[in-house]
Amino acid sequence: MNARLRPRDDPAAAGQIAYALRQMTPADLDAVAQIETTVYTFPWSRGNFADSLTVQYHAQVLTDQTNTVRGYFVAMPGVEEMHLLNISVAPEVQGQGLSLLMLDAVTLLSRADGAHLLWLEVRPSNTQAVRIYERYGFYPITRRRDYYPAQDANGRPCREDALVMSAQVGDLLQRRGLRTAPIG
Ligand SMILES: CC(C)(COP(=O)(O)OP(=O)(O)OC[C@H]1O[C@@H](n2cnc3c(N)ncnc32)[C@H](O)[C@@H]1OP(=O)(O)O)[C@@H](O)C(=O)NCCC(=O)NCCS
Repeated sequence: MNARLRPRDDPAAAGQIAYALRQMTPADLDAVAQIETTVYTFPWSRGNFADSLTVQYHAQVLTDQTNTVRGYFVAMPGVEEMHLLNISVAPEVQGQGLSLLMLDAVTLLSRADGAHLLWLEVRPSNTQAVRIYERYGFYPITRRRDYYPAQDANGRPCREDALVMSAQVGDLLQRRGLRTAPIG
């Protein structure tokens, strides 16, 4: 997908900033890794992203009108399913609906791949992300115990469960009005 996009329902952004989604390339890795270390306490390494490109996962960057990377996602195709591995938005442009643009792109890629199920893991403590996913149409299906590295209140290493959430791709397409949208 390489489309001109605008955050939905955002009068402040309308007509001002146009975002584009395009394939992530090795040239984007520094910018991606920079955002990653800013938004996560336990970030993916640059090598994790490079590996994702090598194995040809779906990896796209969201750029602004100056071609600056402002967000990205990585999704792993499976048999009739898609696993969203990473979705992130740079702090300075969070809260504009950009995660929804990227979730729509993942949903359309899932349809194009013939995936029926889209799923992801999220830290239960990441309440903003959980709320966004729920509103988008994901529902919790299970927990993976002690899945993530974490820190307790005293900064000591501990583990955090993962909440596994999923959605039927057909439901998301309908819910988001994407059924007739063009692919790619
Ligand atoms: C989680 C994350 C991807 C959300 O991205 P975002 O682009 O800021 O999210 P959105 O703007 O789409 O939604 C965030 C909030 O802004 C609101 N919002 C503001 N303007 C909006 C607009 N124009 N359209 C839609 N929603 C808008 C949303 O309703 C939502 O409200 P909420 O805080 O009450 O839930 C981003 O915060 C992030 O990168 N966090 C760090 C990494 C992370 O945790 N990733 C997920 C790991 S599973």
